[in-house]
Amino acid sequence: MSKRDFLSTADLTRKELDDLLDLAARVKGKRPGQVLAGKVLGLLFFQPSLRTRVSFEVAMVQLGGHCIDLSSDDLYELEPQEQAVMDGRAEEHVKDAARTLSRYVDALGIRSAARTGTWERDRQELLVRNYAKYASVPVINLETSFEHPCQAIADVLTMRENLVTLKGRRLTLLWCNHPEPKSLGPTHSILQAAAMMGMQVTLAHPLGFEVDPQVLERSRALAGEHGGGLRVVNDMETAAHGAEVLYARSWGCTKYWDDAEREAMVKRSLQGWRVDEALMASTNNAFLMHPLPVRRNVAATDAVLDGEHSVIYDQAANRTHVQKALLMQLLK
Ligand code: CP
Repeated sequence: MSKRDFLSTADLTRKELDDLLDLAARVKGKRPGQVLAGKVLGLLFFQPSLRTRVSFEVAMVQLGGHCIDLSSDDLYELEPQEQAVMDGRAEEHVKDAARTLSRYVDALGIRSAARTGTWERDRQELLVRNYAKYASVPVINLETSFEHPCQAIADVLTMRENLVTLKGRRLTLLWCNHPEPKSLGPTHSILQAAAMMGMQVTLAHPLGFEVDPQVLERSRALAGEHGGGLRVVNDMETAAHGAEVLYARSWGCTKYWDDAEREAMVKRSLQGWRVDEALMASTNNAFLMHPLPVRRNVAATDAVLDGEHSVIYDQAANRTHVQKALLMQLLK
């Protein structure tokens, strides 16, 4: 049987997404025991993490398995390009690392580096996709510039817990300000997953912060197929009006992907893109989501993050349950 990777929410069928959510709900209600006894998950982080790292480790331990944290400082610099003449800094090719690690561990989880060049390069997710190509064990995307599927499935579970049925429910994905350039991973992944659930999605961002056109078109098609809809707006007030879920997150400007100073200059005039009580009041009693970490009083105010409609810690908690379900599906 060929191995299965988990790289994108777009790789799932609707049935697979439902099955994963149902299993996550079951393992949340009742611990499944030591079903992964003896299994080892290797974790490779090329960027910092709190939630992803800890929730995967907790999930593996509670299922009877182990994690090995292969932090980037302990690894050789890797070459992701095919047929590269390796006379530069990279000491090892991804294909050799992937094939070797597959002899040691039962699955690999990888978070790639933040920005390695142009958007055209980073949107290809070379490191994670080449690991998946050459590893003989399942590879799990722990966030690239393009996707963060584990976060998105936990987000959908959180929405399902609060709204019960998601078809036709109004979700606003709202760009918010951040002093640093951020990935498009969480936005792309939740956009596709929410569209697949048949939600009425509003994507809201300032001009210049468009998401990848391929993801937008795929999400539009998925929404159409599953009885939902997708619209793009460029002002916060229109976006918030009537929303049942307000999901705030910053993401980067693909045009200036390799020019952080230019992106920072553009964002100087966008400090109003922040969620506050007035914006929440214009929604349809929406609950507030954010994948964390969050820049308090930049992306959203303390009042709304700590308010009664905030479910940000439920999202974080659901990472463990969703990842248990995913690991059980990939490794059992
Ligand atoms: N949301 C999320 O992935 O958090 P970390 O960056 O802390 O893993």
